[in-house]
Amino acid sequence: MQVLRQTIRVILAAALCLTMGQVAAQEKVLTLAAPAALTESGYLRYVLPRFSLKTSIRILTTEDPSQADVMLGTDLALPDSRALVTDLRDGTTYHIAATGAETPGAEHVTQFLEWLRSDVGQRTLDGHRLNEARIFTVAAAVEEVAAPQVLTGDLALGEELSLLLCGRCHVVNEKNRQNGIGSAPSFSALKALSDWDTRFQVFYTLNPHPSFTQVEEITDPFDPARPSPIAPIEMDVEGLEAILAYVTSLTPLDLGAQIELK
Ligand code: HEC
Repeated sequence: MQVLRQTIRVILAAALCLTMGQVAAQEKVLTLAAPAALTESGYLRYVLPRFSLKTSIRILTTEDPSQADVMLGTDLALPDSRALVTDLRDGTTYHIAATGAETPGAEHVTQFLEWLRSDVGQRTLDGHRLNEARIFTVAAAVEEVAAPQVLTGDLALGEELSLLLCGRCHVVNEKNRQNGIGSAPSFSALKALSDWDTRFQVFYTLNPHPSFTQVEEITDPFDPARPSPIAPIEMDVEGLEAILAYVTSLTPLDLGAQIELK
């Protein structure tokens, strides 16, 4: 009995090897040379399988350009190299180009580059998150996103003040997810509004805030006859700028459709 079982196992294993061998022979493979910064962050592990799923072309990564069909790098001396993604942590932009080598995967290169350029590809390039934070974004989007927003405030201070002053009503980020009140929209929901920056700049004039908010040198002191009904928010312009800087860094909530705020 024991021997029979062994034999069946061996036969099964051999059959499996055979099928896998056939699959490997038919498999379409493309080799991509990429710097360690992109592979180690898990970014390529996020992006590449999404392409493979659509096309059945598997992408192998290597750090050795001589083996590659396509290359990613900061400084490519290749024709038709174009900016692909920017690392938001240090502003490095990575370019992509076909190596032009007569490698086995060369026939799949155009399909890969076109996919990266398509809507789905671009959304995928923007879709990766590490602990809810976006670290890579489509390269062209950087100037568009960064240009109109003036970031003069201190980001770390902004987060601290947001949690301290606003966090008892608004969900600011995952650190106070449990603390918001239902009637106050979360910061990421507010961020999804097209005019979020104006709303934040003047929040102390928008209800319900005036009754409990004092911004040094901007708002009048509370009317002694109508003191703040709750522990007041007391802050200065620098604090407000820091909060604005922090909100600028937040990813807007994907609301599908615009939420309605009175
Ligand atoms: C005591 C609770 C409370 C605190 C504290 C609070 N808010 Fe609000 N906030 C609300 C509520 C409730 C709303 C929703 C008002 C509405 O839409 O009717 C709101 C709305 C807002 C809006 C959108 C306003 C509009 O009309 O578009 C902004 C921006 C905002 N808050 C910023 C802040 C900031 C920044 C802080 C901290 C410095 C803060 N809030 C602190 C309760 C609070």
